[in-house]
Amino acid sequence: MAAEPAPVPGPRAPGPAGWPLLGVLPRLRRDPLAFLTGAAARYGDAVTLRLGPRRVVLINRPEWIHRILHETEGRYGKAAFYDKLVPVLGYGLVTSEGAFWRRQRRLVQPAFQRARLAELCTGVAEVIEARVRAWGALAGRGAALEVSRESTALTLEIALRAFFGAGIGDEEFRALRGAVAQLQAALNRRLWSLTDLGTRLPTPANRRFRASCAVLDDIVYRLIRAGRAGGASRGVLLGLLLEARDEESGAGMEDRELRDEVLTLLLAGHETSANVLAWAWYRLARHPDWARRVALEARAVLGSRAPEFDDLPRLTTARMVLEETMRLYPPAWFLARTAREDDSLDGLRLRAGTTVLISPYVTHRHPRYWESPEEFRPERFAPEAVRARPRYAYFPFGGGPRRCVGEAFAMMEMQLALALSARRLRMATAPGVRPVPRAYVTLRPSEEIRLHPAPRDD
Ligand code: HEM
Repeated sequence: MAAEPAPVPGPRAPGPAGWPLLGVLPRLRRDPLAFLTGAAARYGDAVTLRLGPRRVVLINRPEWIHRILHETEGRYGKAAFYDKLVPVLGYGLVTSEGAFWRRQRRLVQPAFQRARLAELCTGVAEVIEARVRAWGALAGRGAALEVSRESTALTLEIALRAFFGAGIGDEEFRALRGAVAQLQAALNRRLWSLTDLGTRLPTPANRRFRASCAVLDDIVYRLIRAGRAGGASRGVLLGLLLEARDEESGAGMEDRELRDEVLTLLLAGHETSANVLAWAWYRLARHPDWARRVALEARAVLGSRAPEFDDLPRLTTARMVLEETMRLYPPAWFLARTAREDDSLDGLRLRAGTTVLISPYVTHRHPRYWESPEEFRPERFAPEAVRARPRYAYFPFGGGPRRCVGEAFAMMEMQLALALSARRLRMATAPGVRPVPRAYVTLRPSEEIRLHPAPRDD
């Protein structure tokens, strides 16, 4: 699709008027996805939105997104929004900034290098195979699979095994799962609140929130202590983080720093991929032609053997299906930044202090770059089609220095999950299932997705 030239912006971004005091906040809260997509369609690639006392500018042009993401940790910083996550995550990679973030990123990133992921691949595949076998058993009984629930349990189990090896028992797994669900619910409630006053009152919800934080702390600190005492198996992420040393000072991480990084990786690293998998299985059930292609590819590349890390580049259909799924349903559906200095984007002025909102959900549907954007068409991710688009028309993992540190890990587990399930099973939608995306901290399906698995016999 040949993109039309982008219009030249004025110095100030236009935008909807909104209510006195609250501005557009009520409309944004009611349905953020429809509201932001509609605002971009009506006002253009930069839209001013008044949210209570704050003004934010929604940016929806790939070249500007490129500049803002690549100048983060320079001309731009992360926005105050991320402070809402501090009570849970502390100062891990998602929430920290400046020199501390740089040091932590240097310490954590090596744990996600190719060679490390290759060591984790067999364990990840074993966790997936066990679930696929259980789903196969359901197929015999004609029962439905609750796909969101299952994919969350799957990616949490994968993350726990990759981070801690065999160091976590069934009871702790259940406690952790319950606490994670509580925290996510609390963060979703806090997402659009203007003040943090409500979080300090002794309400039952706040008490549950604090209790869940305590459960997570207990488990993570216990694992850190066990790891320091020599119990962290080699090749497991916790072991790598315990051994990581700063190049300049030679210092490693203290317990509190480790706790913040481990919890950040655990939370950032499993709900995101769980949502993508749930949507991908749903879409494959609706598009059996693509499901068949994923299955044929899995059989051609893997036969009936266990997968290895080097198989991943050949699972291209699974990759294209996942990329198209993340175009339609990017789990991190918005990113926020603050301009630290005045900036000009082709003449559009952004003053120092301005909050900038960037939404993969909105840009992934920009009609200048995507034809029939609501349609599921994995062929959009064939190499020549990708080359024809600007780099930041698509950015589910962000970009620049703060790009997702777990991208390759996520792609590995998701490609394996699609390929290994498609190799054995076919999924059909149960009648009446019509999930739509809902914008919480991550993008989730509005209802549980029930699918019927059946053995694949073609
Ligand atoms: C489909 C799965 C995933 C998606 C779509 C995703 C998306 C993103 C995005 C968009 C960012 C950038 C946020 C920003 O710039 O404000 C990010 C950052 C991050 N992600 Fe992911 N992520 C995924 C999986 C993972 C996994 C598996 C892990 C860890 C195991 C992980 C850990 C992180 C961390 C620690 C950061 C912060 C990096 C930094 O600022 O230095 N993510 N992710």
